[in-house]
Amino acid sequence: MSATVKVAVAGAGAWGRNHLRVLHGLGALAGAVEVCEASRERVRKDYPGLPVWGSLAEALRHGASVDGIVIATPAPTHADLASQALRAGRGVLVEKPMTLEAGEAQRLVDHADAAGRTLMVGHLLLYQPAVTELKRVIDSGILGRVHRIHQERTNLGRVRSTESALWSLAPHDVAVLIHLMGEAPLQVSAAGAAFLQPGIHDDVHLELAFSGGRSAHVHVTWYWPGRRRGLRVLGERGMLVYDEADQSLTLHRKRLQGGSLEAVDEGSVRVFEGPGEPLRLEDEHFLHCLATGSTPMSDGRSGLDVIRVLERADAQLLAALPPTLKEA
Ligand SMILES: NC(=O)c1ccc[n+]([C@@H]2O[C@H](COP(=O)([O-])OP(=O)(O)OC[C@H]3O[C@@H](n4cnc5c(N)ncnc54)[C@H](O)[C@@H]3O)[C@@H](O)[C@H]2O)c1
Repeated sequence: MSATVKVAVAGAGAWGRNHLRVLHGLGALAGAVEVCEASRERVRKDYPGLPVWGSLAEALRHGASVDGIVIATPAPTHADLASQALRAGRGVLVEKPMTLEAGEAQRLVDHADAAGRTLMVGHLLLYQPAVTELKRVIDSGILGRVHRIHQERTNLGRVRSTESALWSLAPHDVAVLIHLMGEAPLQVSAAGAAFLQPGIHDDVHLELAFSGGRSAHVHVTWYWPGRRRGLRVLGERGMLVYDEADQSLTLHRKRLQGGSLEAVDEGSVRVFEGPGEPLRLEDEHFLHCLATGSTPMSDGRSGLDVIRVLERADAQLLAALPPTLKEA
């Protein structure tokens, strides 16, 4: 990994601190940007001597050696901060969700193209070795035709007040679906419930249609008794289960026989298991793209595809709210 490329992290909150740790470990951390004084103090204590700025504008003015910015601030700030960094000639890794509107995501893609700079989105799951293997197994044809994919991301918390469970949790799943299906969905429909905060959905179901009659279902919620994260691929000749808890892939040689639709069960086998270090792989990929100018796997265009899906789904969720909540 090129240690000559240096990046700063904007946002030293719960997630930004992970980027700080990983990038410091990679010898690529040039500084931190944080608006909160207490958080700035903590970064100074954790990384003595590291430049810590109070605004991105300051970092872009003074951080001459900063090649890229990791944006790990709250979602509503992403579009503005990413745009500032691109305009200042820096590459950007913006956390998910890339933006809260497709128009903003499109503008970032256009800025990055015009400036010839890297624009990457933090779709962490795409950097999980188990997901790389999942894609390889699907593409190998072992499952035959993929009929349907089911995904779930449930837990108790963390509830956000600036974005719904759809915007907070589903970007990962939608990004993985688009990656596995090899295209953006043709149709999106959404249903859900907002019961903790007015107009902010806590529990969301998405139904997505892809070409060739393929489809997918996504369930995300932050109000659930237990943490369940993973997906099931239902194929013509078998099924594949990805469990995020232990990063395992299990191939079930189960199907309904063509014609008679008789159930066939030829057993199950674990085909992959391994602790992933997706954030390190993601940050290394960002540094590599900055150093070489190559296009990130989760580039701005793929981020835009995800935002388009979320935007369409959100419009349906909001339209279905009772009139009193719509006005809230
Ligand atoms: N990829 C993942 O798996 C993953 C996981 C968790 C969070 N995230 C994403 O990371 C982002 C941050 O989430 P979090 O949980 O760390 O939030 P957080 O609220 O804990 O931290 C955000 C930090 O950004 C700072 N901040 C706000 N505006 C700023 C600005 N203009 N400039 C600099 N700093 C600013 C805040 O003071 C805070 O310290 C969100 O977009 C979230 O969706 C991604």
